[in-house]
Amino acid sequence: AIYPLAAVIAAYLLGSLAFAVLVSRAMGLSDPRTFGSKNPGATNVLRSGSKAAAIVTLLFDALKGFVPVLLVKLYGRDYGMGETTMAMVGLAAFLGHLYPVFFRFQGGKGVATFLGVVFGVHWLLGVATGLTWIIIAFFFRYSSLASLVAAIFAPTFYLLVSGGAWYAEGPVAMALFVMALLLAWRHRANIQRLLQGKESRLGAKKDEPP
Ligand code: G3P
Repeated sequence: AIYPLAAVIAAYLLGSLAFAVLVSRAMGLSDPRTFGSKNPGATNVLRSGSKAAAIVTLLFDALKGFVPVLLVKLYGRDYGMGETTMAMVGLAAFLGHLYPVFFRFQGGKGVATFLGVVFGVHWLLGVATGLTWIIIAFFFRYSSLASLVAAIFAPTFYLLVSGGAWYAEGPVAMALFVMALLLAWRHRANIQRLLQGKESRLGAKKDEPP
């Protein structure tokens, strides 16, 4: 079991790279943990005013979920790694983003990394989940709401295409479900703001009131 364990640890370490912080630093922008929602994520980087930095953050935070899952999926069999390892590796990258060892365990909300994992599981599942985010974001203009709805739909899409009861669908369904729950938990302040009508709209800048 040395390969699966090594893969899970590697995925966690990769997930721990908070690209919102690293990209902002590299591009000479202020640290996203100091303004807006204080969240190290693409949405908050966007509040700095740099679309480019937000897109790069989104891309790299997604890749750190996507790459480990895809690698296990493509080459895992040769090293005794199957669906369970794939699910664990995705979950590990996601947990790295939420609780990064390199950033005093103060990470983000997991949306981009979740999307990356989902794309790694199946590209169509990724497209469906991404489209869900885009549709909700387009109509409601709240990143957090779009993320919450997309996260709820992802395991649902997975079950729909794989059929059957959620508990019978194995480790990938379980991992998606656990990630969706954690993602919602990390959005608890956003949920409160949404209910109070105080959530900041997509495209609002850091110095604008919500
Ligand atoms: O990427 C997380 C998003 O769903 C909400 O981010 O900065 O508005 O709390 P934020």
